[in-house]
Amino acid sequence: MKYKGIIFDLDGVICHTDKYHYLAWKQLADKLGIYFDEKINNRLRGVSRMDSLEIILENYNGSLTATEKENYSEEKNNIYKRLLEDMSPSDLSKEVKDTLDQLKEDGLKLAIGSSSKNARYILEQLGLEGYFDAISDGNNIEKSKPDPEVFLKACEYLGLSPKECLVVEDAKSGLEAAIEGGMDQAAIGDAVYTQLATYDLATFSDLLKCIR
Ligand code: G6P
Ligand code: MG
Repeated sequence: MKYKGIIFDLDGVICHTDKYHYLAWKQLADKLGIYFDEKINNRLRGVSRMDSLEIILENYNGSLTATEKENYSEEKNNIYKRLLEDMSPSDLSKEVKDTLDQLKEDGLKLAIGSSSKNARYILEQLGLEGYFDAISDGNNIEKSKPDPEVFLKACEYLGLSPKECLVVEDAKSGLEAAIEGGMDQAAIGDAVYTQLATYDLATFSDLLKCIR
């Protein structure tokens, strides 16, 4: 095995909560009369909730106080959490689950490295509570991706060095974080087009080819 551990981004890699982020931000942006589309949404991948709001506000003709920003980000999160309520283990694809099971069988340690503060709730909804050997998320970091902190913490929790770990990401910010942190990276989804990663995955199960 080339690696001892694999660190997975959550939104857009293990599950498709990215569509719920889009819907929740869109609702808030519409309310504030701010232009928002899928292209702008792509810039929010891997970026913390507050930093995402700042990106959305680039198209806002006005200024908001710190308290207003807090309130709006909380409002978005409440919409988002209502959308997450409908998630269930059926939202975890068989391909993803089978691949994770195979990696575990191969003796690899598996971790989550996500900027989301809702990561544990999402894992519960998917029936993956207690499945990962470590979870590093938005609750244990100061800086979100592209800063490597979330992945370095995941390595630390796994008891492995960055060189022993592979990061799986769907976001440019996440690939940059992994590069900065000294880990190899596997890109999936739109991240493939950045041409930044060690490996490009056409589909999740391709991961099994990168580790041997
Ligand atoms: C992930 C998503 C981002 C999101 C961030 C914070 O990294 O890709 O789009 O902004 O998590 O999520 P949260 O659930 O804490 O609002
Ligand atoms: Mg992601």
